[in-house]
Amino acid sequence: MKDASPTAPQKIYLSDYQVPNYLIDEVHLTFQLAPEATRVRSRITFRPNPDATSADFFLYGEQLTLISAQIDGAPVTPTHVNGGLTCDVPSAPFVWEAEVEISPATNTALEGLYMSNGMYCTQCEAEGFRKITYYPDRPDVMAVFTVRIESDLPVLLSNGNPVTSGDGFAEWHDPWPKPAYLFALVGGDLIAHPDRFTTKSGKDVELNIYVRPGDEGKCAFGMEALKKSMTWDEEVYGREYDLDIFNIVAVDDFNMGAMENKGLNIFNSSCVLASPETSTDMNFERIEAIIAHEYFHNWTGNRITCRDWFQLCLKEGLTVYRDAQFTADMRSEPVKRIEDVIALRARQFREDNGPLAHPVRPDSFVEINNFYTATVYEKGAELIGMLKTLVGDADYYKALDLYFDRHDGDAATIEDWLQVFEDVTGRDLSQFKRWYEQAGTPRLSVDEAFADGTYTLTFSQSTPATPGQDHKDPRVIPIAVGLLGADGNEVVPTTVLEMTEATQSFAFDGLSAKPVPSILRGFSAPVILERDSDNAERAFLLAHDTDPFNKWEAGRALARAGLVEMVLNNAAPDGDYLDAVLQVLRNDDLDPAFRALTLALPSQDDLAQTLVDLGHTPDPTAIYQALETLKMAMATHMQDVLPRIYAQYQVNEAYQPDAEQSGARSLANAALALISRTDGGAAAQAQYDSADNMTQQLAALGCLIMAGKGDAATAEFYDQWKEDRLVIDKWFALQISHAAPERAAEVAADLTQHVDFTMKNPNRFRATLGALAMSPAGFHRADGAGYALLADWLIQLDPLNPQTTARMCSAFETWKRYDSDRQALIAAQLDRILATPDLSRDTTEMVSRIRAS
Ligand code: PHE
Ligand code: ZN
Repeated sequence: MKDASPTAPQKIYLSDYQVPNYLIDEVHLTFQLAPEATRVRSRITFRPNPDATSADFFLYGEQLTLISAQIDGAPVTPTHVNGGLTCDVPSAPFVWEAEVEISPATNTALEGLYMSNGMYCTQCEAEGFRKITYYPDRPDVMAVFTVRIESDLPVLLSNGNPVTSGDGFAEWHDPWPKPAYLFALVGGDLIAHPDRFTTKSGKDVELNIYVRPGDEGKCAFGMEALKKSMTWDEEVYGREYDLDIFNIVAVDDFNMGAMENKGLNIFNSSCVLASPETSTDMNFERIEAIIAHEYFHNWTGNRITCRDWFQLCLKEGLTVYRDAQFTADMRSEPVKRIEDVIALRARQFREDNGPLAHPVRPDSFVEINNFYTATVYEKGAELIGMLKTLVGDADYYKALDLYFDRHDGDAATIEDWLQVFEDVTGRDLSQFKRWYEQAGTPRLSVDEAFADGTYTLTFSQSTPATPGQDHKDPRVIPIAVGLLGADGNEVVPTTVLEMTEATQSFAFDGLSAKPVPSILRGFSAPVILERDSDNAERAFLLAHDTDPFNKWEAGRALARAGLVEMVLNNAAPDGDYLDAVLQVLRNDDLDPAFRALTLALPSQDDLAQTLVDLGHTPDPTAIYQALETLKMAMATHMQDVLPRIYAQYQVNEAYQPDAEQSGARSLANAALALISRTDGGAAAQAQYDSADNMTQQLAALGCLIMAGKGDAATAEFYDQWKEDRLVIDKWFALQISHAAPERAAEVAADLTQHVDFTMKNPNRFRATLGALAMSPAGFHRADGAGYALLADWLIQLDPLNPQTTARMCSAFETWKRYDSDRQALIAAQLDRILATPDLSRDTTEMVSRIRAS
């Protein structure tokens, strides 16, 4: 132990990894379900691990009441130690049996076995199984599970295939060895939405989505998404499903999005239930992606799992990458890429440039639940994308085949992952590995020169220090570049430059004139490109770039530059920008979804970070005002075109949540948002009154609130949807996100007093306090009311649900960007949280890391 103080939470280090002392062949579990006194009997066959260096026997266990324990049938009295128990055990294989009692009904942390609306369910990743029984709860201990559930509830589910069931019981057997974090159990009065799937080798698989009575009409879309995912993984990665049955269960109270338990995925109901009346187009896209993500984990996560939790990105980065490929194939590749980069910058760059920055593969943690981050997931996925760009498509899929062949059934590491690429390509990936080991977002600056028909680009990279890592080595950066001629034609098509040095030049010869470069096409690396280009060049690229990502990026750079001038120098909205965007808006040859994305402005948070990068202290109110002024200028500048666009992109066919229709709706709704700034809300009211789907209804409500005309519609919306908890989450969030900044904290505070507010439901808590935290001008109100409100509620939630509390502390991660008054206000709240008696390990770690910066 490297931590000397007995009270300080213990830090776990990757470098301390030791193989398990005992391995398991089989696990038999029997559950007698009862809300406050569930009995769990375990029968586990252990054998000493021949590779182990110690014979100590330790089982993790938390919040368990041990009733009895036996080894090889003889009663034993184990020694309780912090976090589990130890026991003297034979030096040869032996059978461990134990009975424990647990209380799912009072488990508000939503980890282990808990209850949600009368339904029993589990969440074991990362370390929740130890709240179910004593076990070597670590991912490199894999075992075959047989589970018996005893309860009068009609639906009793676990992993694998059903064995038998009868009055008051069901038995399940999972033939695939798995770590305990993939264990799952569900018991409830549920309704199945059934279907079937035949795999490419002819195996017939039963599929079900289980939901609470009343939700059965919201399963069809998820089921289609599941079948599409199954087909896609066969076609693209050659991966088939491997059990007779695949079940999905929707749960209302869930800390995360969804969980890939073997054969029994458990979903936050917001990530699976969908209907046109209650879900937006964005919800549909997200649900499709999450269903795919969890399904794809069956190979990348379950068949090949992680050796230890430091390797989390091995399964998460790869699976996010795979689900992004799937969405690109099902919908639009450029649109998906643009959306992902917006999200990457909003969440991962923000994290990577603040006190919570950590490597994609961290090397220490206190609480692993705090490392399910944008860095592990989204930056982890970017690393897969860069690898694919570097080795090419053909070698990428060869390496993946080798990975599945070589490591099926393993608990693997990032070293194993990189090795298959080295073996397939003969490349040395040791420099690439720095992407996994070093935190921080590289800055990439560019110089250009043109002489005698040769155009030279010189790049320099540097990465700022991050907590615990001052020195950064140069990374391998794949820079996709294309060159355009003055007439807008492409003179050099996309070429991938492989940068390996701190500073490096690349020359293009045989050019008749100095070209315009399009750099970092498709966002080929997760870096911040620092390029001094002028508005004329940005407008030129927005009009002519053949790479859709960079075309959009040029518009974004133009918008950002104009907004920075408005914030810093009180400049008027940039006429070049307004003209350029108008050209895009009226160009009916362009995809409507692309046009809607081009019309969208950089977020308040994006602008705040941009100002920091330029050496300024951002003023949240000034940023908000600049955006409002620019939107007003857009509304007037485009006044003649907007009604035409709005009318033209109305969808007249029956609602489909596909890329085409949702693209049209997103453009029409972007037009509506601008129109609503000049028509007093008339068009929005008309849309609100006639809307027959949630995308239209919610967009109209947002416009009405912004126009100050939302009171009647807000009340009506509540009456219409008060029985639908997922829609009411939207109602909570929208009122806060669309409130005037000076009122947002009051609106949020009032909503915490609403009869429908409950902090026991993570979705509702996030819809309220999370919505405030994500509205920068409201949250960062100068008097600190936003900070105080959030801290109050985090302090109240922590004893009930440490995981969700800790995640939401990241609202404060940008605090060092702001002026000293705001910093002092935030520091006071952070200190108040830290001073709370019995603060959870999760929240203590997060707040201390933020405070230490
Ligand atoms: N492993 C889940 C996923 O990415 C996320 C998750 C983590 C869910 C921890 C619950 C708890 O799909
Ligand atoms: Zn995942």
